[in-house]
Amino acid sequence: MKFPFVGDVKSETETEKIAQEFARLLKPGDVIGLTGELGSGKTFFVKAACKTFGIMNVSSPSFAIVNIYNGIEKINHFDFFRIKKIEELFDIGFDEYIDENSITFIEWSEMFPELMPTKYYQINIVFINNDNRKITISKNE
Ligand SMILES: Nc1ncnc2c1ncn2[C@@H]1O[C@H](COP(=O)(O)OP(=O)(O)OP(=O)(O)O)[C@@H](O)[C@H]1O
Ligand SMILES: [Mg+2]
Repeated sequence: MKFPFVGDVKSETETEKIAQEFARLLKPGDVIGLTGELGSGKTFFVKAACKTFGIMNVSSPSFAIVNIYNGIEKINHFDFFRIKKIEELFDIGFDEYIDENSITFIEWSEMFPELMPTKYYQINIVFINNDNRKITISKNE
């Protein structure tokens, strides 16, 4: 996979393939921001990516703010959607989650762009219709 990556997918299976190809490139310490409207497939993408690490219990962290999964890698899965103030994230120790031992996915990352490290992957998913999506993955460094 080369960056920026742009893919037009026509099914969930195609999204899963891209997510798993992407996940194979990830290393501990990596941070991935996901953007795209409600129901575009951000959680679906994280779920598919996590299968690569043997993690099968991924769910949307929108109420919990963060889910932690332990598989071949340790994964932090954030969802900023319900956060009103950045202080709420500092209160739950956001800074301590992002470390060299874990991979961090952040849904709705555009809500607090100042929290993204200098190096991170950005995934944008555009809902086209039905099962069609446009997926863009870029590497910021
Ligand atoms: N090609 C596709 N890629 C991803 N998801 C798809 C695709 N086709 C259909 N879907 C469906 O779209 C839905 C995406 O929901 P998902 O919860 O992943 O969205 P989300 O972006 O995380 O939403 P939210 O902003 O509420 O967190 C799922 O029900 C999934 O099965
Ligand atoms: Mg979601």
